[in-house]
Amino acid sequence: MMKIAVIGGTGVYDSSWLASSQELRVETPYGPVEIIQGQVNQKGDAVYFLNRHGTHHQIPPHLVNYRANIWALKHVGVERIMATAAVGSLNVAMPPGSVVLCDQFLDFTKSRVSTFFEGGPQGVVHTDMTEPYCPHIRKVIYQQAVTRGYPTINGGCYVATEGPRFETPAEIRAFRLLGGDVVGMTSVPEVILARELGLCYSTLALVTNYAAGISPHHLTHQEVLDLMAQNMTYLKQLIVTSIPL
Ligand code: HPA
Repeated sequence: MMKIAVIGGTGVYDSSWLASSQELRVETPYGPVEIIQGQVNQKGDAVYFLNRHGTHHQIPPHLVNYRANIWALKHVGVERIMATAAVGSLNVAMPPGSVVLCDQFLDFTKSRVSTFFEGGPQGVVHTDMTEPYCPHIRKVIYQQAVTRGYPTINGGCYVATEGPRFETPAEIRAFRLLGGDVVGMTSVPEVILARELGLCYSTLALVTNYAAGISPHHLTHQEVLDLMAQNMTYLKQLIVTSIPL
């Protein structure tokens, strides 16, 4: 039976959609990780839910223990991951309320450890990133979205910034010129670490706002939370109905 993980990002903290759930604490070389294990269907597919920012959104994006989280999921036997992420949009074809199934990233993070392989006994490992986000999961989710009429875009380039501040309009203009579609603070290094461990990883990026300089007003974290809350039902349905992937 395939083991699937859902990493809940900003605004996705609730695990009440999992039946027969139990809490697990996984000890990793990078620190302990709390995971909730449960089921979403009668077939018994195991689903592991992990809050990226903690249950009370207490961990900012640049301080998330990305290595511990991905290591823990691999350790419990997870093979496929659906991760949610709140993002700003640089592309008018990806308006607030839409879900972008990312297929590429641009990495503008600065202070994060983004590899499990730091030399020593594990050696030097260079992981292929031609297809960083799993095309299989994207296809399954996109089919669900089309069937259900959800505003979902299959493919988009995620620009990862360090945060926790939002971007300047000049940065957003530069990212757009470089080919970015959406901007957020968490998909890197999560996607890289998942690839390093051979996990099939996808990001469901929910657009919560137009990015700085495109938005007609200054950005607030509250508007990100509000937009996430408004679209939570369909985001969860998209995830749940896509299982078993
Ligand atoms: N920038 C970076 N991260 C974000 C944004 C944004 O505009 N919106 C939601 N997360």
